[in-house]
Amino acid sequence: MASSKSKGRVSLDERFYLSADEFFPANAGLGLTYDDVSLATRYSEVLPRMTRLDSSLSDALALSLPIVSSDMDTVTEHRMAIAMALNGGLGLLHYNMSEADQVSEVRRVKNHIHGMIGDPAVVSADDTIAQVLARIERDGLAFSTFPVTSSDGTLLGLLPGSTVKERHGQRKVVAVMIPRDKVFTVAEKDLGKDPIATADRKFSEHVGQNKLLVVDAKNKLRGLFTLSDIERISEESRAHVRPTRDADFRLRVGVAISVPRTADGEIDRTRLLAHVSALIDEGADALAISTAHGHTKGVGDALRMLRKAHKGITLIAGNVTSGEGVEFLAAAGADTVKIGQGPGSICTTRIVAGVGIPQLTALYVASRAAAKKGVRILADGGITKSGDIVKALTLADAVILGGLLAGSREAPGKLMEINGKTYKEYRGMGSHEAMRKGSAARYGHSASGKFSKVAAEGIEALKEVSGTVDQVLGTLAGGVQSGLGYLGAANLAEHRKRARYIRVTPAGQREAAPHDVIEIKAGS
Ligand code: XMP
Repeated sequence: MASSKSKGRVSLDERFYLSADEFFPANAGLGLTYDDVSLATRYSEVLPRMTRLDSSLSDALALSLPIVSSDMDTVTEHRMAIAMALNGGLGLLHYNMSEADQVSEVRRVKNHIHGMIGDPAVVSADDTIAQVLARIERDGLAFSTFPVTSSDGTLLGLLPGSTVKERHGQRKVVAVMIPRDKVFTVAEKDLGKDPIATADRKFSEHVGQNKLLVVDAKNKLRGLFTLSDIERISEESRAHVRPTRDADFRLRVGVAISVPRTADGEIDRTRLLAHVSALIDEGADALAISTAHGHTKGVGDALRMLRKAHKGITLIAGNVTSGEGVEFLAAAGADTVKIGQGPGSICTTRIVAGVGIPQLTALYVASRAAAKKGVRILADGGITKSGDIVKALTLADAVILGGLLAGSREAPGKLMEINGKTYKEYRGMGSHEAMRKGSAARYGHSASGKFSKVAAEGIEALKEVSGTVDQVLGTLAGGVQSGLGYLGAANLAEHRKRARYIRVTPAGQREAAPHDVIEIKAGS
């Protein structure tokens, strides 16, 4: 149907509530952020619960929830990354740790849940229980039951977790294992077209069994199902939450990498590529070069190196707030560009360095440059409520959250109790303390520098503990779905098309929050 505009008449709505390509150019020269703007509601036949939030960070990396946890040392380690992926988002592991530790963090996420574990961890009959315990500790394994195999992979038995105890340390596996003829197994050829359904049925038929080993015709171990994995998979399909998984049914994970330098300041290519190869061998799905200023020669050079060495990996790079910055990183090989300089809740970049662009204006400029180059963008920082995500997603493919997740149970860090309330530490990666732990390069400082003489660009703070990631994301996703419902958008592509913006005055902002009442229970 031809719009009234195309017939030469402009409706009242069209004059007041402008599309992105009318609104932002009309406000050129003005830095607008989330609270400066509101979205107009549109005719809708869409109920919030019917909306889909699917998005992607590259052609290879789809998300069913467009939320990524920030690569900060008080936000994302393996527990957060697991929770994010189980909810359909993605975790970006931080890099304030040794390279070996980062590889092992990736392993922890990739080992978390499997349909059939094709390459299960095994022990040999001659190992002692003490050796098995040391291995669990070294590899950060969350389980202690192992198939026992000979060197050619023949199944000899099963070491039950109940025997893997310090008190049995000197015993050999062979002395305590369940012998082969008593192990619960299924022949590979009997798995059929739907191995999960087969495993599910077998577990139902054999009460008390929680590991099902798969063997071939020669009794070689081919894989393993665990009851808890199968139960979780069944729950997931009932709950309609689609976890972010790879083709082997493992959870996906992203990793922030710091770019190592040689003594003369050049990128240490050998070390960078060796580390990245180790991450990819372990199953890392995306790599992020996260710096405070991504429109730089160093970031461009590093990106080109990674793109050349690993054609298929999803590359995220940033941060920038200009169209030129987006085009530069896209040309260097980025699939997704992070947008945000100084909006973060713990950031002081704008105060210290006097630079940065308020988020919505930056996202508009970036989104138009990204569309030209065929890359995605991530809205990074400054999001304090679900309504901000609704606004960000009119321009960006997904958002990055730091502060909103830092108080959750799965964020790293100890709980602190102050005056009866529980808190967790949340600090900027440009704070003195975080830079000392390794993130100095992100802010263009030398890792061995004297941090007392360097201007910090972030603060150290506390966040009140806010429940689990499931709860936090459930509430945020619900809010975003409401936003789509108000715009009559069934999915994010329609959301982008149907968004109409209007500027809000300070009085309008006051009107938007609870006012003129005494609040007795805060909304979530
Ligand atoms: P939120 O608002 O979600 O922001 O807490 C998280 C994002 O802030 C960025 N970040 C920093 N920016 N100084 C900065 O200027 C810092 O010390 C700092 N630490 C993190 C980062 O992009 C993160 O995702």
